[in-house]
Amino acid sequence: MDDIFEFKKRVDESVAFLREHLPEGGDILIQLGTGLGGLADCLEDSFSIPYQDIPNFPRSTVTSHAGQLVGGVVAGKRVIILQGRFHYYEGYSAREVGFPIRVFSLLGYQKAIITNAAGGLNPDFKPGTIMIMRDHLNMLGDNPLRGPNIDEWGPRFPDLSQAYDLKLREVAAVAAQDLGLTDIREGVYVCIPGPSLETPAETRFLRSTGADGVGMSSVPETITGLHGGMKILGLSMVSNVNDPDNMQPILLEDILAAAQANESRLTSLVSKIIAKL
Ligand code: HPA
Repeated sequence: MDDIFEFKKRVDESVAFLREHLPEGGDILIQLGTGLGGLADCLEDSFSIPYQDIPNFPRSTVTSHAGQLVGGVVAGKRVIILQGRFHYYEGYSAREVGFPIRVFSLLGYQKAIITNAAGGLNPDFKPGTIMIMRDHLNMLGDNPLRGPNIDEWGPRFPDLSQAYDLKLREVAAVAAQDLGLTDIREGVYVCIPGPSLETPAETRFLRSTGADGVGMSSVPETITGLHGGMKILGLSMVSNVNDPDNMQPILLEDILAAAQANESRLTSLVSKIIAKL
């Protein structure tokens, strides 16, 4: 078992460093997904801190993810963007994947907007559909809270009956309406370990579970944030739709291209949501 008390010490050191180096008054944390880094360019009064300069912060091993934290102001509100995330498939435990969220929950951040690129399972989805996460299925086979509980961080058995905050989901829907964004739906996200993509049989199975979208991230961050008392909004950019009876290759280039082609829609949605918070 990895040592939770060692983990706590590492988290506390990161928290102490960031408390010194971040401006006060931030409340909203944004975790950006694959190909969705653009929001960081829209910040006023911005600054960045490479992950490697933050004591104990994990390092991203995937090139499609920059590894830095970007702070600034959107719609008059101070936010922190995590540009670059950690994945279970990189070899990190679910607990380690949640490291940044844990740090920011301890810094007093109360809301997290978590984005990702996802495969569509719902046949009504298209590349470019934005899915507001209504719920999730954790198929990682790991949980960020496994092992001894740190009671000062949160409860042993956190309730997940409303993992994705209803009010935030409503704000997102209204923001989309205000922007005239169409092709936005609520759905269930299933997190698989990866890094291999799904076979047709796995796709058929995942569809049968009631999941609408599939990806390799976000769930460890959500569980960690909920444990720390944060409210979570999850937004998936559907980059490809997988049909088990006519399975097409799922290629990283295509996922990145679709995420980038639709990034400005997601960026304007997130900005509008922040304006309404
Ligand atoms: N499967 C898993 N993860 C993904 C996919 C997919 O089809 N598309 C983007 N991320």
